Amino acid sequence: MNKRADIDPNKIIQVEDLSEPLIYSVEAFTSPEYAQDERDRLWSQVWQHAGRVEEIPEVGNFITYDIMDESIVIVRSGPETLKAFYNVCSHRGRQLVDVPEGAHSACGRKQNFVCGFHGWTYNLEGKCTRILDKEDWKGILNDERTKLNEIKVDTWGGWIWINMNPDCEPLLEYLLPASDLLSQFEFEKMRYHWRQWVVFDCNWKTALEAFMEPYHVEGTHPQLCVYGDFYAWSKAQGLHGHDGFDSKNPEENTSAATTTVTRAGKGPDARKTIAQMQDDFWETIRGSTTPTLVNAAKRLVDELPEGTPAHEVHEHWYESAKRDDAARGVIWPTIDPDKLAKAGLAWHIFPNMSFIPGLTFLLGYRTRPYGNDPNKCIFEAYALERYPEGGEPKAPWVYAEPTEEKWRKVLAQDFSNMAAVQKGMRNRGFRGALPNPHQEQKITNFHRNLARYMGRGSPELIEK
Ligand code: FES
Ligand SMILES: [Fe+2]
Repeated sequence: MNKRADIDPNKIIQVEDLSEPLIYSVEAFTSPEYAQDERDRLWSQVWQHAGRVEEIPEVGNFITYDIMDESIVIVRSGPETLKAFYNVCSHRGRQLVDVPEGAHSACGRKQNFVCGFHGWTYNLEGKCTRILDKEDWKGILNDERTKLNEIKVDTWGGWIWINMNPDCEPLLEYLLPASDLLSQFEFEKMRYHWRQWVVFDCNWKTALEAFMEPYHVEGTHPQLCVYGDFYAWSKAQGLHGHDGFDSKNPEENTSAATTTVTRAGKGPDARKTIAQMQDDFWETIRGSTTPTLVNAAKRLVDELPEGTPAHEVHEHWYESAKRDDAARGVIWPTIDPDKLAKAGLAWHIFPNMSFIPGLTFLLGYRTRPYGNDPNKCIFEAYALERYPEGGEPKAPWVYAEPTEEKWRKVLAQDFSNMAAVQKGMRNRGFRGALPNPHQEQKITNFHRNLARYMGRGSPELIEK
């Protein structure tokens, strides 16, 4: 049953024009009942990225993915086949695969899954292959009754996606138009550079939304303002949304293609501002760029004469970085300039994925509820990069306290808002969220779509 079709549209205020000033309540962030309802109305109905394909390269490799009460095992059952099962033994319900102490997921390689309680054993297809004293059940234990409970699994962009709704739409349809606009980036050819996680004292939406708009740059990352004003457009794309750099003065806009990754920087000498900005991004984020791009940017001042127009500097930088990468076996994808321009800067994939895509990198975020607590979440961030064949580093999940030392300056600045926003939203003096009608439409769209699943809480027009 597809719950989306069940929702009575008359109960939801339909606000199609997200550029109008809208308000939404904090129920979705603070209510324990709402958090509990998300389990049935949201998480059991949507496609969720549960991991990356490269995490399970060999037959028998598996990972687990937990969402509220549900735990799921995803296993490579054959060279070209992935399977996903609820992580529970069919006998008396012991969780089949344990998550190690201090970790948020399990991974490994097995030929069989053996339950730690009474030893029932399952093969990679989920079939129960060993039951102690099976005859005691008087013949009622058939394969159907004892197999692991299977759920939908698919891949896109190198991510593994799961869906607990047996009647869900196909993944590629669910992801539209993002899957179309972004397919040429070939994210499936990227590999983890690093990945870290932490638990925050805030709702999973509070944490995710901190990465869904550049409107916060001046207030949260003032040091980045030397590179531009970070004014952004923000648009709904069906269930999903994206944004990109904009200008209050249309004549100042750089070409759409260059806004995908970064602006040329502000200041008289683009050679220097690009180099500074790239160096700064690498040092303070360790993402949103690559060593190749940083090094090519640092050479600009030697390779180009003073006074070279910004767009020519940008073009030269890209061309030389592309050559450097090709020389080490990293071939850039060819992207239709129109699609590149339309892709924008950063994407939200409903409900809990956010990322900044680049031609050779991606900076991604995933947030999830922590148990049933609306005031806690698991936050994960990761950087992907294109590497020469076999040249990727080993980058397992690392738990990292939310300090500047562990996460570098920019993310640590973002983290400083998490618990404070959650606390503020619980304050009886808060009247409801007032997202920026131009720069935060992604967030308003998120709440509109969330309301469609949840049956309540749609943003409302503000009476003048
Ligand atoms: S609960 Fe798994 S074998 Fe008994
Ligand atoms: Fe930020």
